[in-house]
Amino acid sequence: MAGPDEPEQPVVQGADADGVSIVAPDLLHGPQLWQLARESKVLDVNSSYAYLMWCRDFAATSAVALDGGDVVGFVTGYLRPQATDTLMIWQVAVDAGQRGRRLAARMLHDILDRSAPRWMHTTITPSNKASIRLFTAVARDRATTIERREQFDPQLLPGVDGGAHEPEDLYVIGPLSGTRHGT
Ligand SMILES: CC(C)(COP(=O)(O)OP(=O)(O)OC[C@H]1O[C@@H](n2cnc3c(N)ncnc32)[C@H](O)[C@@H]1OP(=O)(O)O)[C@@H](O)C(=O)NCCC(=O)NCCS
Repeated sequence: MAGPDEPEQPVVQGADADGVSIVAPDLLHGPQLWQLARESKVLDVNSSYAYLMWCRDFAATSAVALDGGDVVGFVTGYLRPQATDTLMIWQVAVDAGQRGRRLAARMLHDILDRSAPRWMHTTITPSNKASIRLFTAVARDRATTIERREQFDPQLLPGVDGGAHEPEDLYVIGPLSGTRHGT
């Protein structure tokens, strides 16, 4: 309770204790996903149209972290058409000023809670230690295993501006039971 001279803090409906809420994306969030992907300097940036379509058609398997009305993180994912018990996570990004607060982990858990897949897949470049740590932590939270397999060779991933792309390793997390032990 705020004292007599302190202003009451606004309570954001559905927000966690830190004021950030994790929800399925809305169509209007599309441009901010594109912006966050650009600012990450790590992700392959898709077209703004692609992020819009993701918010429209894959909201059930995607999440945004909202601080007030601002998107400060996103996860895009889909259920594989040929294996609908498998959630494929495409991209994860958290605003640089908001990292280390478990927003990425909370978004992944939110999607897992909503879509209840048996398996979660993602691909990660060998140099992206933060992402490897993130998915390892989520596997731990779900009391399951994470396994790395070779997936996409660099020649399948021609880089922009002639730059070479690292390989993308497949990480398989599961089996998932729906229960979690961490946040
Ligand atoms: C990767 C990224 C999404 C992590 O977001 P985040 O919100 O800071 O991650 P979290 O706070 O949820 O961390 C989850 C776990 O990963 C670990 N982790 C996250 N970033 C880390 C880093 N840079 N170094 C070491 N560990 C890290 C955390 O310690 C935590 O583990 P714990 O539960 O054992 O403590 C963020 O760094 C980012 O946006 N990077 C640029 C884009 C990118 O690389 N995306 C992933 C490829 S698609």
